[in-house]
Amino acid sequence: GTTLGGSAAEKGRYFGAAVGTYKFNDSTYMTVLNREFNSLVAENEMKWDATEPQRGSFSYGAGDRIVSHARSRGMSVRGHALLWHAQQPGWAQGLSGGDLRNAAINHVTQVATHFRGQIHSWDVVNEAFADGGSGGRRDSNLQRTGNDWIEAAFRAARAADPGAKLCYNDYNTDGINAKSTGIYNMVRDFKARGVPIDCVGLQSHLGTTIDSSYQANIQRFADLGVDVQITELDVMQGGNQANIYATVTRACLAVSRCTGITVWGVRDCDSWRGSDNALLFDCAGNKKAAYDSVLREL
Ligand code: XIL
Repeated sequence: GTTLGGSAAEKGRYFGAAVGTYKFNDSTYMTVLNREFNSLVAENEMKWDATEPQRGSFSYGAGDRIVSHARSRGMSVRGHALLWHAQQPGWAQGLSGGDLRNAAINHVTQVATHFRGQIHSWDVVNEAFADGGSGGRRDSNLQRTGNDWIEAAFRAARAADPGAKLCYNDYNTDGINAKSTGIYNMVRDFKARGVPIDCVGLQSHLGTTIDSSYQANIQRFADLGVDVQITELDVMQGGNQANIYATVTRACLAVSRCTGITVWGVRDCDSWRGSDNALLFDCAGNKKAAYDSVLREL
């Protein structure tokens, strides 16, 4: 194929981008977006602070705009993210215990119900594991409501939108390490106990190297019976950028359960990583060497 989305589709995959509605009036941005990608995810518009700014009062306008743009162009939509320790509204940051648990589960139910039938895959829980060698959970207000908060969230999401694939999503899980093994053990436990989980998202915010066990890590999750999605790919610009992008793409395509790749933005200037120049298009919308290397692998 001649585009990322078109080539991925020929392999039964999607190739997506994170988008922000504040860029939807930028014609260079929209030209690249509409030409290259067949999946979208909201960079911020579906997070808790955006969708429930006051308790029990929901705000879906920006998220709906992304969904309707995607649907009008035949693109699928990833949902990001129902529960996360970051970008919580102030009112939720001030809650704890049973009150926070009820608010969190209600949030999952309301948001997943609003978007029911329109989301291909939801990041139900984002970044709940700790960095470093513990392999355990990250401390957070949600974690302090009880270790079962993650499975409660997945059950609520399944009930609200039975057609969506339900993902656990995290970073620094880009190889076989203590953190990814902690997640692996949770997924294995969920599968054994019938907790609904369908996919694991590997964010893949990468620097100048890639772990040699990247593909083996994807494979071990697939072997548990869940899909894997590369959900927030970006790679620091440097001598290795094009090679690292190619390695990620090749690894995903080598595992049949690796169903799609999303890059975390369109052009370098749209990226949360600023001067890392971490994306596939330069600020003028031109294809970079990294773009060519991805397309060659697709
Ligand atoms: C980032 C967005 O790109 C920024 O615009 C925002 O200010 C902060 O969040 N992991 C995630 C994403 O799961 O939601 C984060 O997105 C990047 C890290």
